[in-house]
Amino acid sequence: MSDYIIAPSILAADFARLGEEVGSVLSAGADMVHFDVMDNHYVPNLTIGPMVCQALRNHGVVAPIDVHLMVQPVDSLIQMFADAGATYITFHPDASPHVDRSIQLIRDLGCRPGLVFNPAESLGALEYTLDKIDMVLLMSVNPGFGGQTFIPSTFEKLRAARALIDQAGRSIRLEVDGGVGPHNIAAVAEAGADTFVAGSAIFSVPDYSAVIEEMRANLATVKRA
Ligand code: DX5
Ligand code: ZN
Repeated sequence: MSDYIIAPSILAADFARLGEEVGSVLSAGADMVHFDVMDNHYVPNLTIGPMVCQALRNHGVVAPIDVHLMVQPVDSLIQMFADAGATYITFHPDASPHVDRSIQLIRDLGCRPGLVFNPAESLGALEYTLDKIDMVLLMSVNPGFGGQTFIPSTFEKLRAARALIDQAGRSIRLEVDGGVGPHNIAAVAEAGADTFVAGSAIFSVPDYSAVIEEMRANLATVKRA
């Protein structure tokens, strides 16, 4: 088994049948549920909150839930998502005035902390945090909407993030989010990613197993330096 994680973004699921959709995509071979939280303030869109995360847990979802906070401020929602059963909680460092405190809060609440970087944002916030986080998430689109096109400069940034993570010598996942699908997943992995968010690429096709299998088959061809 490879160490790759495929995390469907439920932003592209049918919200009217969310429990069923999450069950289907996990049965189809997905590893983790990517849960996009938008506040119409940090990003120009509005999605779902901790009650929906709790509802998925109550529905029987035991897979890891990867909560991607696109909100400002972050700390009050960190507390609520920890209570609602989140596994990872990632936030954008420019959305918190005290990044170290927010990371520590996530850890103290028993969740796995991660930082998210927008396409034009440098990785500077990693300099003093790589000893404390479990996930680095690189946005390969501007946050706020599914179905956008992968921004190619993400490849170079993935290589830079991979080098920093390898130097840190800790187990830290490198996740990429936006415009990922069977067509580019191998190239994204070759650049250093090990965790792949895919929304529209998975939920827009009728057969979730087929597209997840295609993604895994393409990952199996990857040669890493
Ligand atoms: C965008 C979200 C993504 C989005 C990805 O702000 O963070 O998780 O759902 O969607 P696709 O895979 O359709 O680009
Ligand atoms: Zn996301």
